[in-house]
Amino acid sequence: MADKDDVKEGKEFYVDVPAKNEPFFLKGSGALDWGMQNRLARIFNPVSGRTVMLAFDHGYFQGPTTGLERIDVNIRPLAEYADVLMCTRGALRTSIPPSNTKALVLRCSAGQSILTELSNELISVDIEDAIRLNACALTAQIYIGAQYEHQSIANVTKLIDTGMRYGIPTMAVTGVGADMKRDFRYFALATRIAAEIGAHYVKSYYFEPGFEKVVAACPVPIVIAGGKKLPELEALEMAYNAVQAGAAGVDMGRNIFQSDCPLGMIQAVSAVVHKDEKPKQAIKIYEAVKNVTAKN
Ligand code: R5P
Repeated sequence: MADKDDVKEGKEFYVDVPAKNEPFFLKGSGALDWGMQNRLARIFNPVSGRTVMLAFDHGYFQGPTTGLERIDVNIRPLAEYADVLMCTRGALRTSIPPSNTKALVLRCSAGQSILTELSNELISVDIEDAIRLNACALTAQIYIGAQYEHQSIANVTKLIDTGMRYGIPTMAVTGVGADMKRDFRYFALATRIAAEIGAHYVKSYYFEPGFEKVVAACPVPIVIAGGKKLPELEALEMAYNAVQAGAAGVDMGRNIFQSDCPLGMIQAVSAVVHKDEKPKQAIKIYEAVKNVTAKN
């Protein structure tokens, strides 16, 4: 307990040193409150300004996806190399130990399956449960141009408003319907709508040409999804091209957990994202880890 016996006068007030006011430098976050900026600083590495999010939320609409049959076995060993775990509350509570201290981006939508219309989603997590789980961000899709576009925008708007009350940011995912063309026009539209409704960052896909213009026109950070499984070098090239064009990192799933060496792949992706490692160098990290794993 503080006592009154030895109260000393303050001596050094650094009167010549101006008080610092340093908002987190992340694009679009300067006007946010401290808790919001602090959560974003747990997602985006304060040194590189980028993030490696490990996405393993696929089961919420497609069941036991290849590579995610056992999240406790397949994903747990990868967690230490990610900055963020992006998943559902069910996966988290059942398969990720609470001693994990990586930032959590919580999938907060559901309501459909691969057998039905994907854009027909609802908000599936109450804010109180997100807080209980110590989420650093909430996330759901906007399906621009799809059957349930309006409803999906309403979902994300609701998440943003609720998160704002508690200092929890929202990542809007640009869900792309099967008949949408993945080009500049589509992603410029979808990412800008996401930012304008108040999303704190946006997940998009990488495409060429024109990705850098989409990044420029979006006033908050963009991270890219990995999409379908590619050969490892191609996936690293995609991540490299995206961050060189201004992406603030990746939210990658299948290209990591469906690799023949997920441990090597996530470390290679991290080198590309955080250290600007060239793909031909980064692939050596993947190969080295694969060789060691094969010998054990
Ligand atoms: C869709 O199921 C989810 O939003 C995924 O988290 C997202 O598509 C990223 O995963 P992937 O890199 O496998 O596309």
